[in-house]
Amino acid sequence: MSYTIHPADQLEGTVELPADKSIGHRSALLSALADGRSRIVNYPQSADPRSTLACLEQLGISSSDDGDNAITVRGRGLHGLHPPSMPVDCGNSGTTMRLLAGILAGQQFGSVLTGDASLKQRPMQRIADPLTAMGAHVKLRQGCAPIRIRGRQELEGITYRLPMPSAQVKSCVLLAGLYAEGATTVREPVPSRDHTERMLGLDVEEVGGERLLTVEHGHTIPATTWHVPGDFSAAAFFLVAGSIVPNSELRLNNVGVNPTRSGLLEVLDDMGADITVENERVKGGEPQADITVRSADLEATTISGPVIPNIIDEIPVLAVAAACAAGRTEIRDAEELRVKETDRLSAMADNLQSFGVSVREYEDGLDIDGPAVLKGTSVSSFDDHRIAMAMGVAALVAVGPTTIDNHKCAAVSFPRFWEELEQVSG
Ligand code: S3P
Repeated sequence: MSYTIHPADQLEGTVELPADKSIGHRSALLSALADGRSRIVNYPQSADPRSTLACLEQLGISSSDDGDNAITVRGRGLHGLHPPSMPVDCGNSGTTMRLLAGILAGQQFGSVLTGDASLKQRPMQRIADPLTAMGAHVKLRQGCAPIRIRGRQELEGITYRLPMPSAQVKSCVLLAGLYAEGATTVREPVPSRDHTERMLGLDVEEVGGERLLTVEHGHTIPATTWHVPGDFSAAAFFLVAGSIVPNSELRLNNVGVNPTRSGLLEVLDDMGADITVENERVKGGEPQADITVRSADLEATTISGPVIPNIIDEIPVLAVAAACAAGRTEIRDAEELRVKETDRLSAMADNLQSFGVSVREYEDGLDIDGPAVLKGTSVSSFDDHRIAMAMGVAALVAVGPTTIDNHKCAAVSFPRFWEELEQVSG
């Protein structure tokens, strides 16, 4: 099914954001490993975190909706998961698959993790390598899922230096470390989102410019109440939309502004955006704030190096901002985008070119020339939620209507995206 979007004269109002996907997954997984009931306030309704709950259900962990977006998860302790009777289906969710693999590597039973066509093409060697080094028995099909994990393996703590900045790989190793003899340390040369270490309450050391995170055998996880903030990565679409559509003012409340996630604020600030962050507070261990964005004339920028993992999910919509900014924006060191739900560098280059934007693709990035006059066109979502939503934002500043195929894949992280977009564009 396709969807047609017309250009907007202005955007106005308050956007209701979905709850944070990354924190949602982790709150459910940690609640499952805690002894007793945990409550998760503002658990995301989006498809990926629902996949995590469905996987936990297959492993004998029940959860129930308490109304008002809160859920209760009945944890069974570190050793309380049940053997699944079928392959555990992670849907489209890479975070579910990679984090759960760490947990399942430490179980007394064997298991198989699978997912949809996109997830089965994503690289899993990056988790199989450290898990194997810990003593797990992990079999892949040509480097990808299905992942077959043998039970009853004795895991040993290791020190693992991340070969790529990936919070999913880091979290996989730390969760396996709960089941390993001794200490498991992850060395992180380039920081990635830090939700897992925050939520596990791990100490962070800085040694020689690297972050060191250590989990000890049997580290216990208390049953608790988690509070999930609004998803910064979902807010990103409206931060860019509010910047590039003239005469706009949008308000985003209760947004997670964890500094390992919110690099887009600095990048947009460098580009001349008019964004105000107010009422900063910490809730459930995660910083939140209320954000207002107003239209501004953007200037091109250069983005590379350690900021990339911090803005990794925001780069597709940042590429739309770049198309509207004066000058050439250069994005480099972003090769990880090629192994997301789709190859996001190629998808953004194709789609922006279809709007008439001058884009040059590199192995690890893009050059984008602006300010471009975008011409309404037909684009593909590539069945990737973030590409679909980035295209929805681009369509607001195009001349003439734009059609997006399978726009509904936005539900993977932001089920009400199109309604919110329509509401603020009147
Ligand atoms: C995530 C980590 C990132 C990010 C993904 C969510 C997480 O992936 O792109 O959307 O919740 O840990 P990588 O770890 O592959 O960079």
